[in-house]
Amino acid sequence: MSALLSTMSSVARPVSGGAQGEPRSSLRLLPRALPLPLTLTSDADADADSDADSDADADAGFSVPRTMAVESDDPGRGQMTVDLTGRTVLVTGATSGIGAACAEAFAGAGCRLLLAARRLERLEAMAVRLREEPGVEVATASLDVRDRRSVEACVGGLAPAWSAIDILVNNAGLARGLAPLHEGETDDWEEMIDTNLKGLLWVTRAVLGGMVERGSGHVVNIGSIAGHETYPGGNVYCATKHAVAALNRCLGIDLLGTGVRVSSVDPGMVETEFSLVRFHGDEERARAVYRGLEPLSAGDVAEAVLFCATRPPHANVRELILMPTAQPAAIHIHRRG
Ligand SMILES: NC(=O)c1ccc[n+]([C@@H]2O[C@H](COP(=O)([O-])OP(=O)(O)OC[C@H]3O[C@@H](n4cnc5c(N)ncnc54)[C@H](OP(=O)(O)O)[C@@H]3O)[C@@H](O)[C@H]2O)c1
Repeated sequence: MSALLSTMSSVARPVSGGAQGEPRSSLRLLPRALPLPLTLTSDADADADSDADSDADADAGFSVPRTMAVESDDPGRGQMTVDLTGRTVLVTGATSGIGAACAEAFAGAGCRLLLAARRLERLEAMAVRLREEPGVEVATASLDVRDRRSVEACVGGLAPAWSAIDILVNNAGLARGLAPLHEGETDDWEEMIDTNLKGLLWVTRAVLGGMVERGSGHVVNIGSIAGHETYPGGNVYCATKHAVAALNRCLGIDLLGTGVRVSSVDPGMVETEFSLVRFHGDEERARAVYRGLEPLSAGDVAEAVLFCATRPPHANVRELILMPTAQPAAIHIHRRG
């Protein structure tokens, strides 16, 4: 295993909070790297900025509610979002698509990033770009999630400054082929099961113990609409994502009372390298998947992940299904022309 961990860049950003779930006064909802320019602030900030904000909101065409503070004995109550500044986030499969967008989103939210995938060169290039933002700390690891020993060595070998992972985004995954089961390639099946199911288990097992010990943490699984529905030729991919959905629910029960949360973000069609991988590099076939409709972007999904991660401590998103408007169900797709 190549538990090649490279950690760079010093922290310029002050870490403004303690354990996950502590309320903060100034709340930044959307990251710098995502296109929507909305920021939620505390009431005090909102008052100070009210004139400027109302102009900006009017320009944007819609009004943005400010943080709604509610009187309560529970410090977490009344808080719409949690500031993630300084949190350590591990994203698997960060070299492409949803994982790369999650890395950007969490960097924008002031998190410290542990990025893992097999293509280290890509990770390093991403890390260089992300570190251009002031205060962003990024560590990268070449990791194949199918290799249990590598996963254990990678997580177990983290330097003390990085070992307390606050948020795990289990994103690494893939589909291979779209053949009916009786014509399917068994190597493809093994790759999907080993990555989407067993890989997710290895990483979760390696990270979760520390979260439970610390009494805080959040596992966000990237599931799929294929974990809720089925479609022709989806057989083994759908089976792995149904398994992830079941694990997500079971894990929620196992973690009861520990302070650790688990969420699943389950998208429909997202335009990434997913179809290129599914069709073993056949670009034309991959492009055809998205022809005539507007699929989700990786950034759309990253924003949903960030939404889960910024819920206040008393609230947990168990499952979030995010679909393109043109795809209300797995096999119901409206294409133009
Ligand atoms: N795109 C969609 O329509 C869609 C819809 C629903 C759910 N999803 C799910 O979203 C997740 C991300 O997919 P995506 O759409 O962003 O596809 P993508 O662009 O192909 O990205 C997949 C990522 O997973 C990583 N990966 C694959 N096998 C790995 C392994 N053995 N070890 C470590 N990393 C591995 C890849 O990195 P390396 O190759 O560098 O290792 C890559 O970074 C997957 O779990 C997928 O099932 C996708």
